[in-house]
Amino acid sequence: MFVLRKPRMAQSIVVLVLKSLPARLTRNWLPFLLFNEIWHNGYEPFERLGADTFLAVSPGGLILYTCDADVNVQLFRDGNFGKPVELMSILNIYGPTITGTDGPESRLYRKITGPFFSENTLRRVFTQSAGGAKMLLAALMRSDAHLHLRSLSARLSLNTLCQIAFGYQTDSDLVRGLAFQDSIPDGKTLSYSQALHGLLKNMGVILDVPHWMLRMSPFQSHRHAIACYSELGSYMDQLKQARQITVAKTLVHGTSSDEDLLDLLIHAGVSSKDQPTPLLTNRQVIGQIFLFMFAGHEANANLLVSIILILACHPEIQAAMQRDLDRLLGDTVPGTWSYDKNYSELMHSTVGAVINETLRLFTVIPVLPKCVPPDGPWLPITVKGQTHLLPPGTVALSNTSATHRHPKYWPDRTTGTAQRPRSSFWSDTRNDVRQRPYAAADFDPFRFG
Ligand code: HEM
Repeated sequence: MFVLRKPRMAQSIVVLVLKSLPARLTRNWLPFLLFNEIWHNGYEPFERLGADTFLAVSPGGLILYTCDADVNVQLFRDGNFGKPVELMSILNIYGPTITGTDGPESRLYRKITGPFFSENTLRRVFTQSAGGAKMLLAALMRSDAHLHLRSLSARLSLNTLCQIAFGYQTDSDLVRGLAFQDSIPDGKTLSYSQALHGLLKNMGVILDVPHWMLRMSPFQSHRHAIACYSELGSYMDQLKQARQITVAKTLVHGTSSDEDLLDLLIHAGVSSKDQPTPLLTNRQVIGQIFLFMFAGHEANANLLVSIILILACHPEIQAAMQRDLDRLLGDTVPGTWSYDKNYSELMHSTVGAVINETLRLFTVIPVLPKCVPPDGPWLPITVKGQTHLLPPGTVALSNTSATHRHPKYWPDRTTGTAQRPRSSFWSDTRNDVRQRPYAAADFDPFRFG
């Protein structure tokens, strides 16, 4: 396992060296490799190269890079393409996950968890979010709130996710969390949210360094990282055990119609009359609990922060959105708002337009990976009307940040062309005040009006 971890560490050193080289040597290819900066670069690297789809060929393998919407659709619609499990398995920290596995195993997790994503859940999310937003608003009124915007948003999103998906955490936990006064149960040194967010922040260390070494490390940050890992594991075990007792009772009295995600996972992990052998092992249940805790709140937290910041940059849009909110909700109080009454109207107003436009510019996952299964046949892909065969093992990276800012799909609405000023080096973009916040400057929710 440690052998597999080494390339990740080596890569961070190599990237530092490459970034210090003259831009003319690296500008055509380095931006494609800097995963943490893909969002900033948008369509620029593809534009510079003059190709929306290309293949990088190296002794280590083939990688297809694309921002072409037609190619993206083929990669995601053709069920023969799989997930590059070797890359995604970094998420299998506590057990195999829906994202870190492929084929029948991943499909099993999808089948078990699928029923959770229903209109009924959306109704509960809407009501819970209206209440949560009120609490977030109170926290945002604090004078230092701008320093903690990301943490506040993450705490709200995590609490909402946990209440809806796992029946875990309460509104009082949220109030304490937003005041950074989380309760820490006996036997723990970290609150639940501190453990989860600490783990996500330190995922690199957790993956790269053997855990015994972290425990013995003289560095406090290392010991903190491993404490987050251990305590989050313990929180999830306790959550699972507590719910198993409830589920055992419902198995006797019949299933209930309002099962949450945790119920579905626990049911799949036990045997019953209809299911003599459990569908999932303990590690598989815990793996999904972790994955959904992570994936279920992170995207929403990031989106919320982006929306708040972008509205602050565009007061005229803020005012337009406020007008729509006043028109649609009038003097009614949040407690009376509901998914059935208000959701559709809100999504067809500036509120929906702001959400969609923010998702366009600040893609929650800047690159989506797919692959030609290593043990399968060559797969065809059609680029600009020409069909090419991709050999087994080819990785395909769909760059959503570039697709979402491609001038062909998103022309400047006033001139019909991309308005972005040109610079000669991709690295200049990083220092160009007009380009650096290009996404924010291009913000125009009325595209969706
Ligand atoms: C703002 C809200 C959200 C956005 C924009 C978002 C977006 C995405 C995207 C783009 C992916 C990658 C899909 C792919 O690779 O095919 C993804 C994966 C995933 N999301 Fe979300 N998501 C959001 C909220 C949620 C929530 C609330 C949950 C759970 C309750 C969730 C659970 C997942 C899971 C489990 C995966 C991995 C699926 C897999 O690997 O098969 N997401 N999300």
